[in-house]
Amino acid sequence: MTAPIQGFSKLSKEEKINWIADNYTLNTEHTKEVLKVYWNSDTKLQKLHDEFIENTISNYYLPLGIAPNFLINNKLYAVPMAIEESSVVAAASKSAKFWLSRGGFKTTILGTEKVGQVHFIFKGDEKKLEAFFNTIKSKIYTDADELTTSMKKRGGGITNIELRNKTEDLENYYQLHCTFETLDAMGANFINSCLEQFAKTLKTEALVYADFSDDEKNIEVVMSILSNYVPNCVVRAEVSCTIEELSEGNIEEAQHLAEKLVQAVTIAKVETYRAVTHNKGIMNGIDAVILATGNDFRAIEAGIHAYASKNGKYSSLTDASIENGVFKFWIDVPLALGTVGGLTNLHPLVKVALDILQKPSATELMQIVAATGLAQNFAALRSLVTTGIQEGHMKMHLLNILNQLGATDEEKKTLTNHFKTNTVTHSAVVSAYNNLKND
Ligand code: MEV
Repeated sequence: MTAPIQGFSKLSKEEKINWIADNYTLNTEHTKEVLKVYWNSDTKLQKLHDEFIENTISNYYLPLGIAPNFLINNKLYAVPMAIEESSVVAAASKSAKFWLSRGGFKTTILGTEKVGQVHFIFKGDEKKLEAFFNTIKSKIYTDADELTTSMKKRGGGITNIELRNKTEDLENYYQLHCTFETLDAMGANFINSCLEQFAKTLKTEALVYADFSDDEKNIEVVMSILSNYVPNCVVRAEVSCTIEELSEGNIEEAQHLAEKLVQAVTIAKVETYRAVTHNKGIMNGIDAVILATGNDFRAIEAGIHAYASKNGKYSSLTDASIENGVFKFWIDVPLALGTVGGLTNLHPLVKVALDILQKPSATELMQIVAATGLAQNFAALRSLVTTGIQEGHMKMHLLNILNQLGATDEEKKTLTNHFKTNTVTHSAVVSAYNNLKND
């Protein structure tokens, strides 16, 4: 067994690579070579990436693709997507093109409220705590003035601070439940700094509050942190068309398709096993845009899945209906995004992605992301209720299999042609490849 190492972070990048390759891999030279092949030859750019995190040894590439033809509120976007799954960009593009000639996506911002909480323990009389909170509330705001001045100037800031009694869930547990408007910033630093200041005011004012007993004066702040659950920072994206327009074929087929799409959504509403996969498909689109635009996909994932359970049962994020001959398909999704600050100012590819999107505001980005998630779900459901998912997936997967087999460009061309009329399975590709080799 390899011995633990002290001071790994202090080693140079070269030393770190040597240590990891020598101690944890069998083919050490190969490991070192691969790690270094992924270094950027531009040393300044490489240094930028090295410094994003601790203990960087290489770069981890994901493809950056474009899904064009997204018509959102009558504006045309080409959406950058960073993702490794082969069929996702193709599906988004196909869906975007489909809706392009049917009015495109319509989106509405339902709210932009961000949330943070100071979690604390108070052992004493709840009524006294309430009176104390009302006495110091304005001081909580003013003590944070220095932090909020510039956000306020731009039209944002703290929107509310509320004392919440959580003692039914946990003995002596209370919170300051705080809401914020952070405009184009995701706002994590702003919110966390404000919360830590609120906590300080809370603690210091309690110590000198005359009506409190000694025990009551001792408010114990457990933690102050933003919440990634943002049920009031929500965007709606929708598409709709007449049943006739839904199909390129005949009207009966279109009616049948519309009904099956609604059924598929209804199943995802009532059945958790299906809902998770249904929403995973939506996240294929959402995460890819979130990553390309330098936002925090873990935060978005956590918030969205909590939102999908907001009625006590994990359920579909999308909804669908047929009314008066019109098929409607929509999504409500919480998205706390930023288009300034963080990685958006640092990562050159993120800047390019935001340029491609015409430098959107955070609310515009919310709308683009929601439309991409909806497009993804539409593409998945349409395949699932018609041809099945594997047909499209395996076509896209073909290239991955051929790359794994080490096929040349010429061989790839021949085999791609061959599989235009033959079913793609892993073994069929391997045997067609072997046949070609032996020809
Ligand atoms: C695969 O990445 C996503 C799907 O499974 C989504 C779905 O089933 O709706 C195709």
